[in-house]
Amino acid sequence: MSRPRKLPIQLQVNGTAHELLVAPERTLLEVLREDLGLTGAKEGCGVGACGTCTVLLDGKPARSCLTLACEAEGREVLTIEGLAETWPGRAQEELHPVQEAFVERHGIQCGFCSPGMILTAVALLDETPRPTEAQVRHALSGQVCRCTGYAKIVDSVLAAAERLQEVKP
Ligand code: FES
Ligand code: FES
Repeated sequence: MSRPRKLPIQLQVNGTAHELLVAPERTLLEVLREDLGLTGAKEGCGVGACGTCTVLLDGKPARSCLTLACEAEGREVLTIEGLAETWPGRAQEELHPVQEAFVERHGIQCGFCSPGMILTAVALLDETPRPTEAQVRHALSGQVCRCTGYAKIVDSVLAAAERLQEVKP
């Protein structure tokens, strides 16, 4: 019997359900970018080494270049495009506090690594609201930045932790 060329799947992305027909070998990164037009997650290495494709799957960082789209079925996918909406009481156009901290502390230069960095930071701060610098560096150790030298990114995450404490609903 020949294998089906495409499978019907339902993906829950940023709170919206999408019915899709996808070839079984397509990655979540490909489907997010090419089928759903969500280009925030970037393809750097494509083999799991750089973290620029990171999204949150059920709140945990996942490399979308190594995740098949069908593996994400039935799970909550959060990309950088949907992050701000997760912040309760946010006004229109307002950023998530972690995004604000990255902008203010210059954790973003070219921005290629930023979606993955920010989502990884969000997951860290969810589990560890007051991380030490060492914990931040450990959490970000799989995320590659070609621009910043990391100091400003680490500073941004520590500032984001402070900010989240202040604005906690
Ligand atoms: S593009 Fe996925 S880890 Fe580099
Ligand atoms: S800001 Fe350019 S790769 Fe990190």
